[in-house]
Amino acid sequence: MQQSVFDLMQQMGHEQVVFCHDPHSGLNAIIAIHNTTLGPALGGTRLWNYNTHEEGIIDALRLSRGMTYKAAISGLNLGGGKAVIIGDAAKVKSEALWRRYGKFVDSLNGKYITAEDVNTSARDMEYIALETQSVTGVPEYMGGSGDPSPFTAYGVFVGMKASAKKVWGNDSLSGKKVLVQGVGHVGQYLVGHLIEEGAKVYITDINQDKIKQTVDKFRSVEVVDGAKIFDMEMDIYAPCALGATVNSESIAKMKCPIIAGAANNQLADENVHGPMLVEKGIVYAPDFLINAGGLINVSAELDGYNRERVMGNVEKIYGRTLEIYDLSEQENIHTQAAAIKLAEKRLQDIANVKARL
Ligand SMILES: NC(=O)c1ccc[n+]([C@@H]2O[C@H](COP(=O)([O-])OP(=O)(O)OC[C@H]3O[C@@H](n4cnc5c(N)ncnc54)[C@H](O)[C@@H]3O)[C@@H](O)[C@H]2O)c1
Repeated sequence: MQQSVFDLMQQMGHEQVVFCHDPHSGLNAIIAIHNTTLGPALGGTRLWNYNTHEEGIIDALRLSRGMTYKAAISGLNLGGGKAVIIGDAAKVKSEALWRRYGKFVDSLNGKYITAEDVNTSARDMEYIALETQSVTGVPEYMGGSGDPSPFTAYGVFVGMKASAKKVWGNDSLSGKKVLVQGVGHVGQYLVGHLIEEGAKVYITDINQDKIKQTVDKFRSVEVVDGAKIFDMEMDIYAPCALGATVNSESIAKMKCPIIAGAANNQLADENVHGPMLVEKGIVYAPDFLINAGGLINVSAELDGYNRERVMGNVEKIYGRTLEIYDLSEQENIHTQAAAIKLAEKRLQDIANVKARL
């Protein structure tokens, strides 16, 4: 890593980073707490086989910052945090690992609340819940809100419709060509909404089982080779796998007027690729704005879960997306910068409220 963890924390504005190690269960985890101005830092735990520990640290730092903005822009009284566990999901998962991890989360006394993320499930949260109350996304039969993915997918869908309204003056996705990259938890629910709306859906995934599941469920989808996705013309590119797929190389090839998907940190470097998209005339729906449905859902567990209220809050993503597009035009800034500006304004406003009697 070229810069130290402290340099990165200072640059990105982090409060705390916790390294957790347990040789018995094989746990190596990093919990990054970005900002707790609005409330406890809520964010999922990602299990991923990073090539180096540095990659894991950087992922945790970037993802936790995104969570601060996601909660702030969604009007939630929550801060931003995220954790990564380094390891191969097929090998490291065990009751002992989750429970030991739960103890580490508990040692933070409510400052960090965890949830699901890539490669972690409601079942894993159940083990964590044996050791701490600082966990959301536990199964419904335990009084939790269950899998957040359908809510995330619905938020992405309404964000996509708002983007269509911006570009075509009409929010119907009927007949539009949409490429969903990554048909995991969120991607498959998103495909369902798109098919129902009458869109022409293309899918790609590195996991053939996920492709098969999706094709079995939705016969009309067309499978595309992952290496060729940017060779095709499409109306909407929906990144629903991992981050940084919007980079100099992909933007140069892209033939689509809209990018709207669920993945976190889609822009490899927001300062470079945000403006590059504007130049190319591609409307980018800020990731942390339109993928907030899952966070809105799990956060509802903290103050008494009510599905209708959650759906109502997720639907607000439509109006907020249009608001961000307006702000981006008025201020002549790219859409990710506009979304960050609005989130930072709320953070400052509420910090000011909290500082007064
Ligand atoms: N689950 C949620 O509620 C939620 C909420 C907010 C953001 N997100 C983000 O959305 C994304 C998807 O989340 P998920 O819960 O569906 O995860 P998931 O692990 O269930 O699905 C991800 C899918 O992407 C595929 N994939 C990985 N690399 C790929 C590549 N290079 N090309 C094509 N496919 C690839 C995987 O095989 C998998 O099927 C993640 O970035 C996650 O952080 C998820």
